[in-house]
Amino acid sequence: FLEYETVQDAVEVASIIRDGSEPFLIIGGGSNLLLTDNFNGTVIHSAIQGIEQMHIDPAGESAVDSVFLRCGAGETWDDVVELCVKNGWYGAENLSLIPGEVGASAVQNIGAYGVEVCQLIHKVEAVEIKTGELVSFNPEDCQYGYRNSRFKHEWKEKYLITHVWYRLNTQGQMRLEYGNIMSELTRNGIEYPTLRQLRDTIINIRNSKLPDPQKEGNAGSFFMNPIVDEKKFLSLQQEYPQMPYYKVAGLSPDSPDMYKIPAGWMIDMCGWKGKSQGRAGVHDKQALVLVNRGGATGKEVVALCETIRKDVKSKFGIDIYPEVNIR
Ligand code: EPU
Repeated sequence: FLEYETVQDAVEVASIIRDGSEPFLIIGGGSNLLLTDNFNGTVIHSAIQGIEQMHIDPAGESAVDSVFLRCGAGETWDDVVELCVKNGWYGAENLSLIPGEVGASAVQNIGAYGVEVCQLIHKVEAVEIKTGELVSFNPEDCQYGYRNSRFKHEWKEKYLITHVWYRLNTQGQMRLEYGNIMSELTRNGIEYPTLRQLRDTIINIRNSKLPDPQKEGNAGSFFMNPIVDEKKFLSLQQEYPQMPYYKVAGLSPDSPDMYKIPAGWMIDMCGWKGKSQGRAGVHDKQALVLVNRGGATGKEVVALCETIRKDVKSKFGIDIYPEVNIR
């Protein structure tokens, strides 16, 4: 287990693992990782701490309404959100209470309630493992998509992330349209929420639906929500008029619209909510979350995942894929 606390340490770690004599596994907080066996190699973790605040982009760009935060990859993501809310900086509030660390936020493109972290990322600093050189990427370089980035594919095991810069706004508009944020605010008699009230509302919604990983082993959403074309969507909608969905705009103005179908809803419709297979189970309040009922091995969780994938495929004709990283 190798941990780096400074950029200089990260350069040294890169020199140790560079020769490829042992496999290595880079982890963040570990909350989105499912191990199916002991890992036979070197596990690497960034413990770089610190959040620097800047009101001007060092590149010279004037940033009257922006605040830049340069955060160590080992900082806890939700501490960054709390700092923003406390200071009245807009942008991160919808991502409240997502488990994990800053470094992983830039790999996984964490998202919730209509916001993805790539909308806030200004740049990502890393050490290239092969050369030990310090590199910096802007969000376009990282090719962000839904829970996706280059760090998960061709850049996998090529870089050690050291810092992530986020850009927040000192004035802003809150995103309230997604899911049941509005109905929760109304229920609490809030018409125009403050950042703090929105953060608290999101924390309450998450706590009511998602089990606390400290108490019951889970990795949040186990599956990604599949995206289907209009033909598939219309045929499903005919069969299931109550089906929830989100329209996803095409990449260009002439590309056709696509539709995101909640995998949790499909798993629920297959009757899996609250059920178990061996010691692994499906959370009783949100079918997208698989839980460890106590003592389940990684392999048992994967077996449940495969049974669910088969059931969803045979009922809806849709393949769903894990969001969790399985090793
Ligand atoms: N639904 C059911 N039954 C269920 C679960 C969901 O009918 O058991 C329905 C809900 O009623 C709702 C729809 O499915 O109409 C969507 O559910 P929800 O709003 O709870 O969100 P989700 O699509 O299941 C996604 C993210 C979450 C994020 C929420 C809120 C993914 C894979 N998951 O879940 O992210 O918090 O939206 O934005 O995109 C995570 O990545 O770990 C995570 C928790």
